[in-house]
Amino acid sequence: MRVFSGIQPTGAKHIGNYIGAMRQYVATQEQGDAFFCIVNLHSITVDYEPQDLHERSLDLAALLIAVGLDPERCTLFIQSHVTAHPEAAWLLSAVTGFGQLGRMTQFKEKGEGKEFVSAGLFTYPVLMAGDILLYQTDVVPIGDDQRQHLELARDIAQRFNSRFGETFKVPDGVYPEVGARIMDLQEPTKKMSTTGGTPQGTVLVLDPPDVIRRKFKTAVTDSGRDVRYAPGEKPGVSNLIEILSVASGAPIADVESSYGGRGYGDLKGDVGEAVVEPFRPLHEQDAQLRAHQAGL
Ligand code: TYM
Repeated sequence: MRVFSGIQPTGAKHIGNYIGAMRQYVATQEQGDAFFCIVNLHSITVDYEPQDLHERSLDLAALLIAVGLDPERCTLFIQSHVTAHPEAAWLLSAVTGFGQLGRMTQFKEKGEGKEFVSAGLFTYPVLMAGDILLYQTDVVPIGDDQRQHLELARDIAQRFNSRFGETFKVPDGVYPEVGARIMDLQEPTKKMSTTGGTPQGTVLVLDPPDVIRRKFKTAVTDSGRDVRYAPGEKPGVSNLIEILSVASGAPIADVESSYGGRGYGDLKGDVGEAVVEPFRPLHEQDAQLRAHQAGL
């Protein structure tokens, strides 16, 4: 089974990236022939500093190894080192509908209110399709926010195949059962993100333990009292329950029932502790790996 996924080097990595993507990467490297790509060419579609982008790519390489990717078991690489990626994007752009690209919600969100919107931001999903299709990928582990892009990659593969004959595998997206869309702790109707979210509501993988605890303690919930999973009605509480479910390995129903009579304060404290623990060794591993620039 061929696995492929990509992650942008820009923006500090948060627990949404970890739960939605990195955790799945580590699991799938055991199951198949896995490729993980640091997609620096996607990051140049918005404003960036070249030297900074270079540093962030190395930061991300170190972090991915620290969380458990093993370069002996998977192929971890930088997108711009393989020029077939932009070549594929150009060829595939000829079978991609202009209208379809215009309907991509990420394009609308990232372009909204900007003085300069690059054509690259518009064609971004075609490069993503190229990334995936080049490797005859079976499965793509991703978070829910990339679902629309993955569906587009499938459409592009199908259109190419029906026009020119069977060429590309049509890939399947793999989304975590719990935690496919981690929400901002301060604005729980928005996804956690370093670009669109709040700093206080975004828990970084490399935040010190006290900062992680504080961010959970100040998470926005609602005026009720019962710890119940109902994303539409109680987005803040439901988000905390999902994070605790992933961090503790307990199903959502078990997390809910363990709070009989206890309130939101306990829940916030418990989620903070549950997230701090597994991330504790990461800081040191990450710093050690990052210090070996040549090795990286
Ligand atoms: P990126 O770099 O924004 O995010 C990396 C991964 O993290 C997931 N993710 C989340 N999951 C749950 N909750 C959240 N709040 C959250 N925020 C981010 C994303 O779904 C993603 O899996 N376009 C892609 C990168 C890409 C790619 C690819 C992915 C380029 N080529 C080929 C897969 C295959 C992106 O910008 O992800």
